[in-house]
Amino acid sequence: MLQIHGLSKTFHSGWLNKQSFQAVRDVSFEIAASETLGLVGESGCGKSTLSRLILKLLPADPGGRIVVDGTDITAYSMKQMRPLRRRMQILFQHPDSALNPRQTILRSLLEPIALHRLMGREEAEAKVLELLELVGLHRDLLTRFPHQISGGQVQRVVIARALTLEPRLLILDEPTSMLDVSVQAQVMELLQSVQRQFDIAYLFISHDLELVSHACSRIAVMHQGCIVEHGSSEAVMEQPQHPYTQQLTNAFRALDPLSGR
Ligand SMILES: Nc1ncnc2c1ncn2[C@@H]1O[C@H](COP(=O)(O)OP(=O)(O)OP(=O)(O)O)[C@@H](O)[C@H]1O
Ligand SMILES: [Mg+2]
Repeated sequence: MLQIHGLSKTFHSGWLNKQSFQAVRDVSFEIAASETLGLVGESGCGKSTLSRLILKLLPADPGGRIVVDGTDITAYSMKQMRPLRRRMQILFQHPDSALNPRQTILRSLLEPIALHRLMGREEAEAKVLELLELVGLHRDLLTRFPHQISGGQVQRVVIARALTLEPRLLILDEPTSMLDVSVQAQVMELLQSVQRQFDIAYLFISHDLELVSHACSRIAVMHQGCIVEHGSSEAVMEQPQHPYTQQLTNAFRALDPLSGR
């Protein structure tokens, strides 16, 4: 459902923008409907920048292509993107900034439905209640503000909000990195059951190779802006080809007391 070809992003800075830095370099991959592709790489390698390019929240360098369901959207205007925005949602890396601090949880959940004029208020409220139950939250939370709920609950609210728009692709930008390990496992489980139930494709971004290898069928490894390796989770974990991936898997094996057997 998503194909990207040769996407790059150069940031310019300094006096007269003379300094330039290429954060994403010639990245290509595809994601099938209902599939999960893992994108792993160290901090600063360009993962979040790439996700913004895919959603056209940031303009890519000329030359790349983004194709959704066979339609080339590279040159789409903001207006043309609008119906697609609904189908391609992102869960941002920092849950703290994901919700408007001055809005109740209910308003935050109703807002995207109203924005896309999907249904009337009553129907929308019923849908919100249904999704709230699905993500395992009590309706008492609806009248609260973001600072009055926990980080794990914020992440569940954000997942419910993305689901209000019935997306086909969800970009998960380190969705659990700010959560403690036990909550992390619960959110991962929730994401997996949501995917099964609604047939959503995931681009799962993380710096944690172990987490990604469990959650994804295919992995792309990113290093300094480039995809250096791409393959099935088993292949990447068992026979890493690129020195950077070998480094990652070695670090992972060193932590596994059974790996020497
Ligand atoms: N708007 C910007 N202007 C200039 N440089 C930027 C901008 N946004 C990101 N960068 C740089 O691009 C590089 C990639 O950043 P990005 O946020 O994509 O990394 P990341 O892989 O998501 O890292 P992390 O795992 O820490 O979230 C970094 O060196 C960052 O400093
Ligand atoms: Mg990031």
